[in-house]
Amino acid sequence: MLSVDKITARRGGRVVLRDVSLALPAGKTLIVLGESGAGKSTLVGAVLGLLPLCAGRVSWDAAPLARGGAALVMQEPRAAFNPRLSLRRSICEPLRAKGLPDDPARLTRLCKGLELDEALLDWRPWQISIGEAQRAGVLRALIAAPPLVIFDEPLSALDAMTQKHTARLIATLQREEGFAALTVTHDLGYAAAHADSVAVLRAGQIEEAAPAAQFFTTPQSTYGQSLVSAAISLGALERRAA
Ligand SMILES: Nc1ncnc2c1ncn2[C@@H]1O[C@H](COP(=O)(O)OP(=O)(O)OP(=O)(O)O)[C@@H](O)[C@H]1O
Ligand SMILES: [Mg+2]
Repeated sequence: MLSVDKITARRGGRVVLRDVSLALPAGKTLIVLGESGAGKSTLVGAVLGLLPLCAGRVSWDAAPLARGGAALVMQEPRAAFNPRLSLRRSICEPLRAKGLPDDPARLTRLCKGLELDEALLDWRPWQISIGEAQRAGVLRALIAAPPLVIFDEPLSALDAMTQKHTARLIATLQREEGFAALTVTHDLGYAAAHADSVAVLRAGQIEEAAPAAQFFTTPQSTYGQSLVSAAISLGALERRAA
């Protein structure tokens, strides 16, 4: 399980994460909600070990998160890909980084799960659609079977129908593959449909953390209550039932 213990981090001399603690059991989904500038991407960088911490620690099963122990799916679908390389080259790169051989059978299986035509993998990232590129980005994140996958606003570049479809494919793969998902978003509808637990980040601090069922019915913090009631009035939580 992922443990984030009282981490504090600075950006440009300013503290942008303060005393943040989170827990995410293997195979489960923790969704971090928070408005723009709350520190979500900074938290992602801290969990990935890309950012020095001023205090606290990040661990997986009580040991430091190993290199390659977590994979990232970014908001910008093509950002994971080198424009000069075929998608296949970029997708297999995490295997090489771990010293593992290419695994064509796994690649085929994941392509099926993500409804990606395997022939697309011979193309360059700018030659395929945004929706396909985002699913290829998920494929790249999953290829080396990391125990933890971090999604930073994974669907926001996609249209509403494609969002729903992609979210469903990811959820099915998560059940099959068993990875834990740490997902950062400001989409409460997505959180309501997919989270096991929710943490609300505000101005660099955890305002509230709770099992999803509890958060969406009885949020405890004033800010959590305002998020949930705004989402209800926008009809964004209807997806929970869908
Ligand atoms: N490289 C940097 N140098 C200085 N300040 C930074 C840097 N990166 C982020 N910040 C500041 O840290 C704070 C948190 O930023 P962060 O990118 O983590 O927010 P976020 O929650 O991911 O926002 P968004 O939803 O817009 O992506 C912001 O105030 C931001 O201006
Ligand atoms: Mg961000």
